[in-house]
Amino acid sequence: MKPFDPVALARPNILQLVPYAGERESYAGKRAPVLLDANENPYGDDALIRYPDNTYTALLARIAQVKGVAPNQLVPGVGSDELIDMTLRAFCEPGRDSILISSPTFGMYNYYAALNNLAVIDAPLTEDFQLDVAAIKAAAQPHTKVLFICTPNNPTGNHMDPAAVQELLAWFPGLVVVDEAYIDFCPQYALTPLLAEYPNAILLHTFSKAWGLAGLRLGVSISSPQIAEVLGKVRPPYNLTTLGVQHLMQALQTPERVADLARRMGANRARMAEYLQQNRLFTRVCPSDTNFILAYAERAHTIFRRAFDEGIILRSFGPNKGRLSNALRITVGTEGENERLIALLARLETELL
Ligand SMILES: Cc1ncc(COP(=O)(O)O)c(C=O)c1O
Repeated sequence: MKPFDPVALARPNILQLVPYAGERESYAGKRAPVLLDANENPYGDDALIRYPDNTYTALLARIAQVKGVAPNQLVPGVGSDELIDMTLRAFCEPGRDSILISSPTFGMYNYYAALNNLAVIDAPLTEDFQLDVAAIKAAAQPHTKVLFICTPNNPTGNHMDPAAVQELLAWFPGLVVVDEAYIDFCPQYALTPLLAEYPNAILLHTFSKAWGLAGLRLGVSISSPQIAEVLGKVRPPYNLTTLGVQHLMQALQTPERVADLARRMGANRARMAEYLQQNRLFTRVCPSDTNFILAYAERAHTIFRRAFDEGIILRSFGPNKGRLSNALRITVGTEGENERLIALLARLETELL
């Protein structure tokens, strides 16, 4: 294993920060009977008068158990989106550093790079939407701090070749964020079991997708404890709410449900993919390891509009979106929702062709 020192990579001003610590958290490991330290109003809503426990000890212990890692490898975020921002803020110097992405990919990497005043270097995915390892290696600059790998990738839906991911992890001298937002739909590709071999890796997981809890806004990063410690310095205090934590704790009691949900979604996806392949409006239907399908149609915009008018909202990318021009990203819904879309597409096939 190559030596990797995340502290050497972090922004010096961040390293000097001491993470927020409340008074009560240090009270003999249990809850004190009288809490007069945090300016709460004891006459408020009983269940919610107190700030949450900012250490999130119980939640992280349970997530660690489910994920098969140690609690000190985890940092919780308001969705995995917040962890993208935290990573860039902790490690990238605004106006100097850059990140490297492979388009087409998740738009928030660009967004948070812009927010943090970081340059974005793009080494596009290959024709079949795989990582172009040689192009990535050629494109990286001395100040490229973070390499983003999204697998399975949004919006293309496919997983990246694990050998390429591992080659890049072993090669890149900076941090590699492996965004596994959709990994519970294809757990056979999860990198978690190999994490110890890659001290520069930050895996991003979310409860918004296979767990079916997007409204909670909860995600987690999994990394070495050293990286987690640096990220902990930029995590806003109390970023998770009491209600969100309670709800997630409940969901974490039955983690086997996730595999069931993923299986059910997989059957719906297969039905949708099969239908799209035989509808002549579509010229390319991309293979998917996720809960969505990227499909190309010359009349993509018309399909989008007609679906929209019927209250079926798809994701379109607009005519000038490079390799996503004429593409639609279709989230796999319930059986009933999918059949509504299929009925509309069948009508449009006869009408438009
Ligand atoms: C690849 C990828 N990463 C991260 C996210 C963000 O997920 P959340 O902030 O809900 O955890 C999404 C959401 O669509 C995504 O597609």
